[in-house]
Amino acid sequence: MPDFAQLLAPVLENRRLARDTYLIRLEAPPVARAIRPGQFVMLRLPGSTDPLLGRPFALYDTVICLPSTSGRGVGGEGDTVKPPLPNGRGADIDAPGAIDIVYLVVGKLTGLLSQVQSGEKVEVWGPLGNGFPDPVGQAKHVALVAGGIGQTPFLAHIRELLGERGYGGQVARPRAKRVSLYYGVRTADLAAGVEDFRQAGAEVHLASNDGTLGFHGFVTDLFEQHEPPDHVFGCGPEPMLHALAKIAERKGIPCHLSLETPMACGVGICFSCVTPVRTADGWDYKRVCVEGPVFDAATLHWET
Ligand SMILES: Cc1cc2nc3c(=O)[nH]c(=O)nc-3n(C[C@H](O)[C@H](O)[C@H](O)COP(=O)(O)OP(=O)(O)OC[C@H]3O[C@@H](n4cnc5c(N)ncnc54)[C@H](O)[C@@H]3O)c2cc1C
Ligand code: FES
Repeated sequence: MPDFAQLLAPVLENRRLARDTYLIRLEAPPVARAIRPGQFVMLRLPGSTDPLLGRPFALYDTVICLPSTSGRGVGGEGDTVKPPLPNGRGADIDAPGAIDIVYLVVGKLTGLLSQVQSGEKVEVWGPLGNGFPDPVGQAKHVALVAGGIGQTPFLAHIRELLGERGYGGQVARPRAKRVSLYYGVRTADLAAGVEDFRQAGAEVHLASNDGTLGFHGFVTDLFEQHEPPDHVFGCGPEPMLHALAKIAERKGIPCHLSLETPMACGVGICFSCVTPVRTADGWDYKRVCVEGPVFDAATLHWET
């Protein structure tokens, strides 16, 4: 993990985006410079033993800072983190200084995180995991399928795919001509970041289980109604990912899935995050925090 960093990151903002859903911006220049779409960080509240362990959160986006007047860059004395450049354009000329994480309040850590104020600090370590691979060949059309809070890794991914931004020190270059996001929620007021995805250049298709937003039904059904893309990426609850993997296999679409397996250490030591993966000799357990969280769907060994 050559670019790995662990630090106490000042909270620049922590605001509500949707029901039970917040965006927290953390000033963490070494993480922001190194992290790529599909990678994640662990967050923990300093000085608290409950919960004791950190929790994993995907990168939503890095925040590009306009050149600092002091010349010291973000984090220098007297500097403030500036807003990102509009739509990230031209942004690869500047080093990012902060990361945005979007989180849904489900339990202890996320509940406490939603109470954190600007100026307080959060322990962050990362970047962790493998990140999204490039789409196959000359992918003209890439589809992203998200369920629940599974939309979070896709904002930076859209910008990287369309060549709007470079991440992890890479220069921006287009990897797809067109990106479609299929985003499904249980009900309308849980949808978070829809405008961000549109502004990043994705064609956004929405679905809800109860019909209060967009297509009435599962996001995988909505995805299947549209023309097959050249490559599909998915993130969300396991039943949704399994359904997407089956569609991709049936239609012969290359498919990569980002798993949301609960984790303890996040760095490959505890083996609490393992998932069965097909290998040349049969199958083996792989650590989602190190060998994932993104896997080729064709290699995943589903329990059901
Ligand atoms: C690689 C990765 C990226 C993630 N990215 C995001 C993100 O960007 N935004 C976001 O909101 N969440 C994300 N998650 C999920 C997030 O880590 C959990 O929601 C978080 O750990 C919950 O912590 P908590 O202390 O609030 O809940 P806890 O008090 O630990 O748990 C509350 C309840 O939620 C269940 N639970 C906890 N974690 C999970 C899980 N991963 N899947 C299913 N059930 C779970 C527990 O079993 C329990 O019932 C990601 C997970 C992974 C592995
Ligand atoms: S969370 Fe400890 S090995 Fe993956």
